[in-house]
Amino acid sequence: MLTATPAARNSIETQPASVVFEWLWLLPFAAALYYPWALLWSNQAHVAGAGSLVTVGWMLTAYAVPLTAFVCVYVTGAQPLISGRLVLARRLACLAVAVPPAFTLLGVLLYLMKIYGHDIAVWSGLWLALTGYFTMHSSTRPIINFPTSNNAYRRLRVAHGISSLAIMLVFLAPHLFNHLLGVFGADVHRTVMDVLRVVYRNAILEPIIILAFFFQLLSGLVLIRPKTISRADLLDALQTASGAYLTLFIASHINSVFTLARYFGTETDYRWAVGDPVGLVADAWSIRLLPHYSLAVFFLIAHLACGMRVVMRNHHVRPAVYGASTWTAIIIGGLVTAVITAGMLGARV
Ligand code: HEM
Repeated sequence: MLTATPAARNSIETQPASVVFEWLWLLPFAAALYYPWALLWSNQAHVAGAGSLVTVGWMLTAYAVPLTAFVCVYVTGAQPLISGRLVLARRLACLAVAVPPAFTLLGVLLYLMKIYGHDIAVWSGLWLALTGYFTMHSSTRPIINFPTSNNAYRRLRVAHGISSLAIMLVFLAPHLFNHLLGVFGADVHRTVMDVLRVVYRNAILEPIIILAFFFQLLSGLVLIRPKTISRADLLDALQTASGAYLTLFIASHINSVFTLARYFGTETDYRWAVGDPVGLVADAWSIRLLPHYSLAVFFLIAHLACGMRVVMRNHHVRPAVYGASTWTAIIIGGLVTAVITAGMLGARV
């Protein structure tokens, strides 16, 4: 995404912020420990026939984990005085936004290592270790007088934006459109996917698409550093948090599609994605794919919308116009997410 920020917005007063905000990352880290339990209890409620209200209720508490982390990203970024510890707190909150793809990635890696049934134990151990590490080392603060306006950064931002547009046009827009068709059934999805595969599984194009994704991932990791040292409004926070989510999602999703599925010769069609015939919610492992996929769709569209907002702002488009366009795109993202998620849960037109 293009994330150029006018120099004025990058000026930072390096004075101590409130201690409460500097330790705010502990909240989403605690929520991350709870995340797999929310999924487990939602699955158990469904299997035990406890009623959809209970199942949905537990599931909503799983979604509350990245939401809590996002609120912390926003709050830490909105403080008037920015300290090194506050920057660290914001970055750790960004990491916690990516809990859904991180838990999926962990599950796939443990599965590949033939370690079954210990996901929650390993997950808890990792988050506790991270919590211990950052509690002890929070005084090792990130450098915040970062050269955010140099040409290398500007060029990288432009390249990140152009590459995202290319990926969107060549692969992601058709990919998500295909998932929208899931509400018409797996066969319709399959028919369209067979056509799309001719393009994205092409021997020349496929490695280029994957390389472009890795470029997005790595350039995003570089660009997130200056983004997290300046004050941020709600949409800036959404751009940073969604970028963090997508970084882990892309790594996790590409690993699932290529390592897990293609290595074992699994057909990666809609039935595979939605855990047919058991279904996502009824399966204790696959239930994690529900927040993982649905938030990926929403954050992808929101991330693009926030990137377009920065481009419009830098090209002197009126604030009322770029504000309205950005929120319209985010609302469309919410609708697309709702339809894709409904299809994945078995809703059919
Ligand atoms: C509801 C959300 C999504 C679902 C259910 C989903 C599912 C799938 C499936 C089933 C495949 C295998 C396709 C095939 O075998 O031809 C695939 C491939 C892929 N997906 Fe997704 N996807 C989702 C969203 C995303 C998003 C948001 C991204 C990127 C940000 C993404 C990136 C990719 C990539 C890079 C591939 C590999 C394409 C290739 O074979 O070259 N997907 N996805």
